[in-house]
Amino acid sequence: MSAQTPIRRKTVTKIRAQKGKDPLVCLTAYTTPIAELVDEVSDLILIGDSVGMVVHGFDNTVPVTLDMMILHAQAVLRGSQRACIVVDMPFGSYEESPEIAYRNASRVMQETGCTAVKLEGGTHMAATIEFMVKRGIPVMAHIGLTPQAVHAMGGYKTSGRVKSEWARVEADAIAVTNAGAFSIVLEGMAEPLAAKITKLIEIPTIGIGASAQCDGQILVTDDLLGLTGRVPSFVKKYADLRGIIHDAVGSYAADVKARAFPALEHTYSLKDEPPPLKKNA
Ligand code: KIV
Repeated sequence: MSAQTPIRRKTVTKIRAQKGKDPLVCLTAYTTPIAELVDEVSDLILIGDSVGMVVHGFDNTVPVTLDMMILHAQAVLRGSQRACIVVDMPFGSYEESPEIAYRNASRVMQETGCTAVKLEGGTHMAATIEFMVKRGIPVMAHIGLTPQAVHAMGGYKTSGRVKSEWARVEADAIAVTNAGAFSIVLEGMAEPLAAKITKLIEIPTIGIGASAQCDGQILVTDDLLGLTGRVPSFVKKYADLRGIIHDAVGSYAADVKARAFPALEHTYSLKDEPPPLKKNA
């Protein structure tokens, strides 16, 4: 048996129990070094399929595969110890049937060691969520703006800014809650609707572009760090890492051209020869 201290992660039960209490801090991570940093402050880390756009340069999340999600999730698991870890089910890996969703999600859990998975969709995904939860897979739901539906929606559309949409979105929230989801992401949603849903359902709502009325917040970490180019208006940039990296690599290039790098302290000098090996007598 290993002598290492076992990792004690936040469980989905603890996340659920935080409903209506201290706001839940959630962030995305796709790599070990970022996971190490966000783990210190996060209740929950999401390996989001936004990795496709942020890291791999795709236009949207549709091309992301299960293998990509597993590889990034393994890297995040190696860098985190405290937070509840949720992995996004990518487009095409869960919509076809509850059985296929279960098979793919169980592979994600077995190969990464994550705590739970997230999938997009409301009423139409409720039967799948119920099937998975009943068989031991904790599920986080995601309604409102669902980026994997970008082609079906004809772009990224906010929801609930007109009252005629409310009943459908509320029905989505109730359906996934009744199906057993332990929490729910509300994305791109008008504040009064997000507030109403947060009061209506007994699981925590995690907002992204859905106001401060939710039980918690999530942002794409690279967006708040200023690593990505254009970001949605709901993102607050807490740093300008793009600018910092731009300046740093510029200084490096200038130093190389001027032969100012590598300096003496970055250079190996000669050392004494080792004594010759003694031959056997
Ligand atoms: O893929 C992702 O990062 C997400 C969050 C934006 C909620 O789904």
